[in-house]
Amino acid sequence: MTKRVAILISGGGSNMVRLVESMTGDHPARAALVLSNDPDAGGLKKAAEMGVPVAAVDHRPFKSDRAAFEAALREPLDAAEPDIICLAGFMRILTPDFINAYQGRMLNIHPSLLPKYRGLHTHARALEAGEAEHGCTVHEVTAALDDGPILGQARIAVEPGDTPDTLAARVLGMEHRLYPAVLRRFAEGNREPVEL
Ligand code: GAR
Repeated sequence: MTKRVAILISGGGSNMVRLVESMTGDHPARAALVLSNDPDAGGLKKAAEMGVPVAAVDHRPFKSDRAAFEAALREPLDAAEPDIICLAGFMRILTPDFINAYQGRMLNIHPSLLPKYRGLHTHARALEAGEAEHGCTVHEVTAALDDGPILGQARIAVEPGDTPDTLAARVLGMEHRLYPAVLRRFAEGNREPVEL
């Protein structure tokens, strides 16, 4: 049976676009919802233009009440009956309660070769550390930040003269290849890591 995929975004949603575009033909999944914590996220318009249902739950009125925000987020999310949830540039930290509710079916893409450089500013930190290699990771989401079983990684060489921006651009290009490849494999029930 076709798997239903919900994609959570906070911004432009370029990874989301690649995921939605990939789910055609004999792909075992289809996009059921694109959901954002920011009603102005550019990706919402792109998703709607691609014919995907969209919803937004603004996190700001909830201030520090994460539980109340997540309860509100779960309304459209659960209504979409997702089999798989893809975090794609979703920039809110989720509580263990939320994560546990979707255990084993939530994926995230992170712009570093995990377990290196969890958190933010990954490209600048990789450069400062003098890394010869950098990249991105898709992993299953568990309660620990940017942790959980690795489902795929893509590597690039760090070149002389690279800046955080040039690295970010090259890594993003790899993210666009890696995430659809991992999603397809995961939707087929295969958790063997993708290596690009
Ligand atoms: C991507 O580079 C993604 O890896 C990163 O945000 C960007 C979103 O771009 N995610 C994180 O940093 C999560 N901690 P997009 O909106 O164009 O897909």
